[in-house]
Amino acid sequence: PARLAVLASGRGSNLQAITAAIAAGQLDAQVVAVLSDKPDAPALQQVTAEQRWARSPKDFADRAAFDAALGDALAGFAPDWVVCAGYMRILGQAFVERFDGRLVNIHPSLLPLYKGLHTHARALEAGDAAHGASVHFVVPELDAGTVLAQARVPVLAGDTPETLAQRVLAVEHPLLIASLQWLVSGRVAERHGQLVVDGHPLFSPLRL
Ligand code: GAR
Repeated sequence: PARLAVLASGRGSNLQAITAAIAAGQLDAQVVAVLSDKPDAPALQQVTAEQRWARSPKDFADRAAFDAALGDALAGFAPDWVVCAGYMRILGQAFVERFDGRLVNIHPSLLPLYKGLHTHARALEAGDAAHGASVHFVVPELDAGTVLAQARVPVLAGDTPETLAQRVLAVEHPLLIASLQWLVSGRVAERHGQLVVDGHPLFSPLRL
């Protein structure tokens, strides 16, 4: 099975969904490591001490030094795929290039809308009728890589950022599992900023 390393800064519900899907036989992979920029991230508790790496960026001189340590630790786990699942720290260009082609992120918006933070509040402020989540390949520019798959949910009257976040999170989990299964099976790939499905260029993201 494909070796997945997960980068997570917080709760880890997406990580939990990955582990559950693997146990249920829905995802042909194994989680080999969880790495974090937050030593107290709850997500870390989902794996054994040997499968964990967490350091605070405050203990490093600069972003490049933290990224290099993260990258070295990651490389030590020999992952086939690196999955950012609630990883809230920007990855520098050298890191992204080191893991180029096997680095994906789940982001809580319908990209290219609402890159960065506070996506749910921004969708509400804009009066959007729909919102959702995207899985994309990571490039140095924030949340700008090729989108692999998206899931869409309605925005409902009376929604708050919290109720909307909850509705999006519920579809993030199956979206991430489906995306990872497409990736590990080799059926979907990215070439030259272009999604390729079963060898054919695809000009739209897959949709859940
Ligand atoms: C998820 O909603 C994920 O899309 C988002 O953080 C949450 C993590 O939840 N990621 C980002 O905002 C990345 N910029 P989880 O820790 O329960 O998986």
